[in-house]
Amino acid sequence: MAKLWEAGTSGEALDKDVELFLSSLAVDSRLLQEDLECSIAHSRMLGKTGILPPEESAAITAALEAMLKEAAEGKLAVDADSEDVHSFIEAELVRRLGEAGKAVHAGRSRNDQVAVAFRLHMKRACKNTAFDVLDAIEAILSVAKNHTETLMPGYTHLQRAQPVTLAHHLLAWCAALERDYSRFIDNMNRLDESPLGSGALAGSGLPTDREYTADLLGFARPSRNTMDAVADRDACIDYASAGASLMVHLSRFCEDIALWVSTEYSFMKLTGRASTGSSIMPQKRNPDPAELIRGKAGRVFGNLQALLVMQKGLPYAYNRDLQEDKELFFEIEDTLHGSLKAFAVLVTSLVPDAARMEDALKDGYLEATDVAEFLVLKGIPFRTAYNAAKELVQICARKGKRLREIDQSDLAEAHQVFAECAVAPDLLTDYLTPTACVARRKQTGGPAPEKTRAEIARLESFIAAQRKA
Ligand code: ARG
Repeated sequence: MAKLWEAGTSGEALDKDVELFLSSLAVDSRLLQEDLECSIAHSRMLGKTGILPPEESAAITAALEAMLKEAAEGKLAVDADSEDVHSFIEAELVRRLGEAGKAVHAGRSRNDQVAVAFRLHMKRACKNTAFDVLDAIEAILSVAKNHTETLMPGYTHLQRAQPVTLAHHLLAWCAALERDYSRFIDNMNRLDESPLGSGALAGSGLPTDREYTADLLGFARPSRNTMDAVADRDACIDYASAGASLMVHLSRFCEDIALWVSTEYSFMKLTGRASTGSSIMPQKRNPDPAELIRGKAGRVFGNLQALLVMQKGLPYAYNRDLQEDKELFFEIEDTLHGSLKAFAVLVTSLVPDAARMEDALKDGYLEATDVAEFLVLKGIPFRTAYNAAKELVQICARKGKRLREIDQSDLAEAHQVFAECAVAPDLLTDYLTPTACVARRKQTGGPAPEKTRAEIARLESFIAAQRKA
């Protein structure tokens, strides 16, 4: 296996099993292009500072650029015997340039090399994931738009609670995803520092220029401390943590969907784009993507945990433990991408059954709070109004009728405040239609159609602005 370092003083070769165990090539060859970009910046810096003669720096830069082009075209075969992608790049450079290629590693170490290539990757990953989140929000909005007046029960404790609309429920998901989006963007901005030039831990005795390489690579600045730069994997934990929050959200949305498409709810159906059949039960349509997204959440939480434990108690600065970071990160990155893509399809494959959802508002006395609020508007203290409404619900339950079917005698039986306020049954029942209940809930964030329509418009322009920025 191509290695950058010499055998130990005893002259013994590294044990084959240990060598295989230590190798990270299978994982970090994913950083091939990023490392080449960073190596090019480093090589240019070596020329600019005079550490290397300009023609030597130019030759190395040109060879690395050729490798980058080949890598982008999928034509650069990574030598499977290399210890890691960083060793491969130097070995390949030497293979191409001979002695001249050996100059590239002046002023850097694999510790800052891996840190900078990984950071460049994470910076892009934050952006890509953030944009996948925007796509998911957009998919939800495309459904919500058509359902600002589609009534359905809102639940607490999985008990029917109050009437809402499907758009309002879907906008609750969007609110969570908007936070997820901002977490990935915050992380991207926070990690925007270049570790390159930090060397093994103490920088370099050569007159390297870290500002220059940071600038070439599009980082906002060099990292503040060379030991921190090679020891730190906070950005990786931040991404994993944002990913964990995102997966919590997606798995909750998916649970909602699984309930909605169940026979028991039958609020919606899923088209064939996002549901599968059973190999034995011909009648079934299963919401498999929803279930698998829910199932994938654990993988992301687990990798976050592994990343935290990987760093806990590590003495400064670099330790080989840190090599575990990339495999854990890539798995999270791929899981988030796959889950978000599938979720966008899933949500746009929902076919809501508006009549069935409205039907679910008939039983369960979801307008009981509104009975109390009707009395509050007549000057009755809320607790008294609450008790009167509760009595009325109990009477209706006893008589097997709905709140919207009450008459004068029910009111009289329930509580004296109804008489005191001269409540006319038909005025009250008009007040209690689900449409009326939803329409008057027009405070910020409420389910009133005018509010959800405004919120959809706000989110649409937010997404457009973010894509432009
Ligand atoms: N493959 C290693 C990693 O991913 C590269 C750094 C090796 N540095 C070292 N001092 N052994 O962490």
